[in-house]
Amino acid sequence: MKRPSWAPLDVDMNQPSIARIWDWFLGGAHNFAVDRQVAEEMLQLMPEGPQMAHINRMFLRRVVQLCVAEGVTQFLDIGSGIPTVGNVHETAQQADPECRVVYVDIDPVAVAHTRRLLADNPRCAVIQADLREPEEILAAPELRDLLDLDRPVALLMIAVLHFVHDEEDPLGLIARYRDALAGGSFFAIAHGSRSTERMPSEHLYAARSKYERSVAQVSLRSQPEVEAMFAGFDLVSPSVVWLPVWRPANGETPEDSAAPNAGYGGVGRKPRTNRPQ
Ligand SMILES: C[S@@+](CC[C@H](N)C(=O)[O-])C[C@H]1O[C@@H](n2cnc3c(N)ncnc32)[C@H](O)[C@@H]1O
Repeated sequence: MKRPSWAPLDVDMNQPSIARIWDWFLGGAHNFAVDRQVAEEMLQLMPEGPQMAHINRMFLRRVVQLCVAEGVTQFLDIGSGIPTVGNVHETAQQADPECRVVYVDIDPVAVAHTRRLLADNPRCAVIQADLREPEEILAAPELRDLLDLDRPVALLMIAVLHFVHDEEDPLGLIARYRDALAGGSFFAIAHGSRSTERMPSEHLYAARSKYERSVAQVSLRSQPEVEAMFAGFDLVSPSVVWLPVWRPANGETPEDSAAPNAGYGGVGRKPRTNRPQ
């Protein structure tokens, strides 16, 4: 395959990537032949794939709208992916043009494309970094220039924490971000579920095993395990639930029992004052 003009020179075009496969599921065009091949094979095993990706995006949009409605206008989106329609800055700046957004992703294609998209947007920035390095992200000049960490921030980790495995201490990593946030900050998670309640087990297991062979290991978690990630935050109603039933918007994501297992979602808010333990 000829290298597209938007692909950074140092990207291995024979290695499929999490971000570009997700982009394909969302109907985006920033993916390579190798990504499309894996994505199409996954689609055979799990036809729900694109719907799952869209359900995650719709959850993201509802979360951003809630945060802006609650007066939070600073966003830190970690594991932000390749921006497609309905990304954080579009939704947030539509609600309040003053919103500031810092995107973080480990994937060079996602970062290059985000940078290009944001070239004319002085209230947005992108950082290429690893979620597992919180201090590096929190100290990044691009972040410090745009976000005031003494004021509430909305920290978003949408469809990314299942790439952080138990031995990498996801709860400890989240705590390091939480401790750097001001009281009143929001924290949102969308997370892959291993439950077969909303998807035939053969779809879930076959797709997972294909993904792990081709792309990356995934740590799907249970609802209580995702809830535990909100330690130190007050969960907002309705707590951690299936993504389509988290505050569905009119005409957008009806509470549909047929919606596939696209994972769990929840939003927490850091208390404004220190409470006795
Ligand atoms: C499934 S996509 C979700 C993208 C976006 N949050 C959304 O909901 O559309 C997961 C993203 O997380 C990124 N990612 C995976 N591991 C990461 C890490 N350790 N640090 C930062 N980003 C990571 C991938 O590159 C990918 O863009």
